[in-house]
Amino acid sequence: MTDIAPEAIFQFGVLFLSLALFFAVKAIPIEAVSTKLRSKVKSSKAQASRHFLHGAHLLSRAKSTSNRANSISLAHQAISEANKSISLQPRDAAAYILKALAFDLQGHKLSAIKSLDLALSPPAVRSLADRERGDALYKRAEIQLSVNKRRRVESAMGDLVEAVKLSSDNSKAYDLLGRCYEMKGLKDEAQRAFETARKVEERPVVRDRTDTSEF
Ligand SMILES: *[C@@H]1O[C@H](CO)[C@@H](O)[C@H](O)[C@H]1NC(C)=O
Repeated sequence: MTDIAPEAIFQFGVLFLSLALFFAVKAIPIEAVSTKLRSKVKSSKAQASRHFLHGAHLLSRAKSTSNRANSISLAHQAISEANKSISLQPRDAAAYILKALAFDLQGHKLSAIKSLDLALSPPAVRSLADRERGDALYKRAEIQLSVNKRRRVESAMGDLVEAVKLSSDNSKAYDLLGRCYEMKGLKDEAQRAFETARKVEERPVVRDRTDTSEF
Protein backbone atom coordinates (compact mmCIF):
# COMPACT_ATOMS: atom_id res chain seq x y z
CA MET A 1 0.00 0.00 0.00
CA THR A 2 2.67 2.41 1.05
CA ASP A 3 4.39 1.71 -2.29
CA ILE A 4 1.36 2.69 -4.30
CA ALA A 5 0.34 5.73 -2.33
CA PRO A 6 2.91 8.20 -3.66
CA GLU A 7 2.08 7.19 -7.23
CA ALA A 8 -1.65 7.55 -6.58
CA ILE A 9 -1.05 10.94 -5.09
CA PHE A 10 1.15 11.85 -8.04
CA GLN A 11 -1.51 10.68 -10.52
CA PHE A 12 -4.19 12.52 -8.64
CA GLY A 13 -1.97 15.58 -8.76
CA VAL A 14 -1.54 15.25 -12.52
CA LEU A 15 -5.24 14.77 -13.01
CA PHE A 16 -6.03 17.72 -10.79
CA LEU A 17 -3.51 19.87 -12.59
CA SER A 18 -4.81 18.98 -16.03
CA LEU A 19 -8.39 19.52 -14.92
CA ALA A 20 -7.45 22.87 -13.47
CA LEU A 21 -5.66 23.77 -16.70
CA PHE A 22 -8.63 22.59 -18.74
CA PHE A 23 -11.00 24.79 -16.78
CA ALA A 24 -8.62 27.69 -16.73
CA VAL A 25 -8.22 27.60 -20.50
CA LYS A 26 -11.98 27.15 -21.01
CA ALA A 27 -13.01 29.59 -18.34
CA ILE A 28 -10.89 32.54 -19.34
CA PRO A 29 -12.31 32.97 -22.84
CA ILE A 30 -15.88 32.34 -21.58
CA GLU A 31 -15.42 34.97 -18.93
CA ALA A 32 -13.90 37.37 -21.45
CA VAL A 33 -16.63 36.75 -24.04
CA SER A 34 -19.47 37.09 -21.57
CA THR A 35 -18.04 40.34 -20.21
CA LYS A 36 -17.73 41.62 -23.75
CA LEU A 37 -21.28 40.49 -24.52
CA ARG A 38 -22.60 42.07 -21.37
CA SER A 39 -20.97 45.39 -22.14
CA LYS A 40 -22.23 45.13 -25.72
CA VAL A 41 -25.79 44.55 -24.51
CA LYS A 42 -25.40 47.39 -22.06
CA SER A 43 -24.12 49.80 -24.69
CA SER A 44 -26.83 48.85 -27.20
CA LYS A 45 -29.41 49.49 -24.50
CA ALA A 46 -27.83 52.86 -23.75
CA GLN A 47 -27.69 53.69 -27.45
CA ALA A 48 -31.32 52.64 -27.94
CA SER A 49 -32.48 54.85 -25.10
CA ARG A 50 -30.43 57.77 -26.46
CA HIS A 51 -32.21 57.44 -29.82
CA PHE A 52 -35.53 57.12 -28.01
CA LEU A 53 -34.94 60.26 -25.93
CA HIS A 54 -33.77 62.22 -28.95
CA GLY A 55 -36.87 61.05 -30.81
CA ALA A 56 -39.14 62.03 -27.92
CA HIS A 57 -37.55 65.47 -27.87
CA LEU A 58 -38.10 65.85 -31.64
CA LEU A 59 -41.72 64.78 -31.23
CA SER A 60 -42.40 67.33 -28.52
CA ARG A 61 -40.87 70.03 -30.76
CA ALA A 62 -43.04 68.75 -33.62
CA LYS A 63 -46.10 69.09 -31.38
CA SER A 64 -45.30 72.60 -30.22
CA THR A 65 -44.47 74.18 -33.58
CA SER A 66 -47.29 75.92 -35.40
CA ASN A 67 -45.61 75.53 -38.79
CA ARG A 68 -47.20 72.43 -40.34
CA ALA A 69 -44.33 71.59 -42.72
CA ASN A 70 -41.85 71.96 -39.89
CA SER A 71 -43.96 69.77 -37.66
CA ILE A 72 -44.18 67.01 -40.31
CA SER A 73 -40.43 67.11 -40.83
CA LEU A 74 -39.68 66.94 -37.08
CA ALA A 75 -42.11 64.03 -36.74
CA HIS A 76 -40.29 62.31 -39.61
CA GLN A 77 -36.98 62.72 -37.78
CA ALA A 78 -38.62 61.36 -34.62
CA ILE A 79 -39.72 58.27 -36.58
CA SER A 80 -36.18 57.81 -37.84
CA GLU A 81 -34.84 57.94 -34.25
CA ALA A 82 -37.55 55.49 -33.15
CA ASN A 83 -36.44 53.17 -36.00
CA LYS A 84 -32.86 53.24 -34.76
CA SER A 85 -33.98 52.51 -31.22
CA ILE A 86 -36.14 49.61 -32.43
CA SER A 87 -33.31 48.09 -34.46
CA LEU A 88 -31.17 48.01 -31.29
CA GLN A 89 -33.91 46.98 -28.84
CA PRO A 90 -36.75 45.36 -30.82
CA ARG A 91 -38.42 44.08 -27.65
CA ASP A 92 -38.85 47.52 -26.13
CA ALA A 93 -42.35 48.89 -26.66
CA ALA A 94 -41.51 52.53 -25.91
CA ALA A 95 -40.01 53.23 -29.35
CA TYR A 96 -43.04 51.72 -31.13
CA ILE A 97 -45.27 54.04 -29.11
CA LEU A 98 -43.07 57.01 -29.97
CA LYS A 99 -43.30 56.06 -33.63
CA ALA A 100 -47.09 55.74 -33.40
CA LEU A 101 -47.44 59.19 -31.84
CA ALA A 102 -45.25 60.70 -34.58
CA PHE A 103 -47.30 58.99 -37.32
CA ASP A 104 -50.47 60.24 -35.64
CA LEU A 105 -49.12 63.78 -35.69
CA GLN A 106 -48.37 63.44 -39.40
CA GLY A 107 -51.94 62.24 -39.96
CA HIS A 108 -50.85 58.69 -40.88
CA LYS A 109 -53.44 57.02 -38.69
CA LEU A 110 -53.16 53.49 -40.05
CA SER A 111 -49.39 53.44 -39.63
CA ALA A 112 -49.89 54.74 -36.10
CA ILE A 113 -52.32 51.91 -35.32
CA LYS A 114 -49.90 49.34 -36.78
CA SER A 115 -47.10 50.63 -34.61
CA LEU A 116 -49.31 50.51 -31.50
CA ASP A 117 -50.29 46.96 -32.46
CA LEU A 118 -46.59 46.05 -32.31
CA ALA A 119 -46.16 47.81 -28.96
CA LEU A 120 -49.18 46.01 -27.54
CA SER A 121 -48.33 42.48 -28.65
CA PRO A 122 -45.56 40.12 -27.54
CA PRO A 123 -42.68 40.38 -27.12
CA ALA A 124 -42.69 44.19 -26.84
CA VAL A 125 -45.79 44.43 -24.62
CA ARG A 126 -43.92 42.69 -21.80
CA SER A 127 -41.71 45.75 -21.40
CA LEU A 128 -44.70 47.93 -20.47
CA ALA A 129 -45.96 48.61 -16.97
CA ASP A 130 -49.75 48.33 -16.49
CA ARG A 131 -50.30 52.07 -16.63
CA GLU A 132 -48.19 52.45 -19.78
CA ARG A 133 -50.13 49.64 -21.42
CA GLY A 134 -53.40 51.30 -20.39
CA ASP A 135 -52.27 54.59 -21.89
CA ALA A 136 -51.20 52.90 -25.14
CA LEU A 137 -54.56 51.09 -25.36
CA TYR A 138 -56.37 54.40 -24.86
CA LYS A 139 -54.28 55.98 -27.60
CA ARG A 140 -55.04 53.13 -30.00
CA ALA A 141 -58.77 53.43 -29.30
CA GLU A 142 -58.66 57.18 -29.84
CA ILE A 143 -56.91 56.82 -33.20
CA GLN A 144 -59.21 53.98 -34.28
CA LEU A 145 -62.26 56.12 -33.61
CA SER A 146 -60.76 59.05 -35.50
CA VAL A 147 -60.25 56.80 -38.55
CA ASN A 148 -63.68 55.22 -38.65
CA LYS A 149 -66.11 55.53 -35.75
CA ARG A 150 -68.73 53.06 -36.92
CA ARG A 151 -66.48 50.25 -38.08
CA ARG A 152 -63.99 50.42 -35.26
CA VAL A 153 -66.18 51.15 -32.27
CA GLU A 154 -66.18 47.51 -31.08
CA SER A 155 -62.45 47.19 -31.18
CA ALA A 156 -61.99 50.62 -29.58
CA MET A 157 -64.37 49.64 -26.79
CA GLY A 158 -62.33 46.51 -26.12
CA ASP A 159 -59.19 48.62 -25.80
CA LEU A 160 -60.89 51.16 -23.53
CA VAL A 161 -62.39 48.60 -21.16
CA GLU A 162 -58.90 47.15 -20.78
CA ALA A 163 -57.37 50.63 -20.49
CA VAL A 164 -59.54 51.73 -17.56
CA LYS A 165 -58.76 48.46 -15.79
CA LEU A 166 -55.03 49.11 -16.13
CA SER A 167 -54.95 52.85 -15.48
CA SER A 168 -58.06 53.64 -13.48
CA ASP A 169 -57.22 57.35 -13.20
CA ASN A 170 -57.33 57.91 -16.97
CA SER A 171 -60.44 60.10 -17.12
CA LYS A 172 -60.06 60.56 -20.88
CA ALA A 173 -60.37 56.80 -21.32
CA TYR A 174 -63.62 56.73 -19.30
CA ASP A 175 -64.94 59.65 -21.28
CA LEU A 176 -64.15 58.01 -24.62
CA LEU A 177 -65.64 54.74 -23.38
CA GLY A 178 -68.81 56.69 -22.53
CA ARG A 179 -68.94 58.04 -26.06
CA CYS A 180 -68.53 54.50 -27.45
CA TYR A 181 -71.45 53.30 -25.30
CA GLU A 182 -73.50 56.22 -26.60
CA MET A 183 -72.74 55.22 -30.17
CA LYS A 184 -73.94 51.71 -29.34
CA GLY A 185 -77.12 53.10 -27.75
CA LEU A 186 -76.09 51.91 -24.27
CA LYS A 187 -77.31 54.96 -22.37
CA ASP A 188 -76.92 53.72 -18.78
CA GLU A 189 -73.40 52.44 -19.38
CA ALA A 190 -72.52 55.71 -21.06
CA GLN A 191 -73.87 57.69 -18.11
CA ARG A 192 -71.87 55.63 -15.65
CA ALA A 193 -68.66 56.03 -17.67
CA PHE A 194 -69.10 59.83 -17.89
CA GLU A 195 -69.72 60.01 -14.14
CA THR A 196 -66.59 58.00 -13.41
CA ALA A 197 -64.63 60.26 -15.78
CA ARG A 198 -65.80 63.29 -13.77
CA LYS A 199 -64.98 61.69 -10.43
CA VAL A 200 -61.53 60.67 -11.59
CA GLU A 201 -60.88 64.16 -12.91
CA GLU A 202 -61.76 65.72 -9.55
CA ARG A 203 -59.41 63.38 -7.73
CA PRO A 204 -55.89 64.75 -7.28
CA VAL A 205 -53.57 62.44 -9.21
CA VAL A 206 -49.84 62.03 -9.34
CA ARG A 207 -48.84 60.67 -12.72
CA ASP A 208 -45.37 59.24 -13.03
CA ARG A 209 -42.66 59.86 -15.61
CA THR A 210 -43.95 57.10 -17.86
CA ASP A 211 -47.06 59.06 -18.77
CA THR A 212 -47.31 58.75 -22.57
CA SER A 213 -50.18 61.23 -22.74
CA GLU A 214 -47.62 63.96 -22.08
CA PHE A 215 -46.09 63.45 -25.52
C1 LIG B 1 -38.47 53.42 -40.48
O1 LIG B 1 -38.42 52.00 -40.73
C2 LIG B 1 -39.36 51.55 -41.68
C3 LIG B 1 -39.33 50.04 -41.69
O2 LIG B 1 -38.11 49.52 -41.36
C4 LIG B 1 -39.02 52.16 -43.04
O3 LIG B 1 -39.92 51.71 -44.02
C5 LIG B 1 -39.12 53.68 -42.90
O4 LIG B 1 -38.74 54.30 -44.11
C6 LIG B 1 -38.23 54.17 -41.77
N1 LIG B 1 -38.54 55.60 -41.59
C7 LIG B 1 -37.63 56.51 -41.29
C8 LIG B 1 -38.10 57.91 -41.19
O5 LIG B 1 -36.46 56.24 -41.11
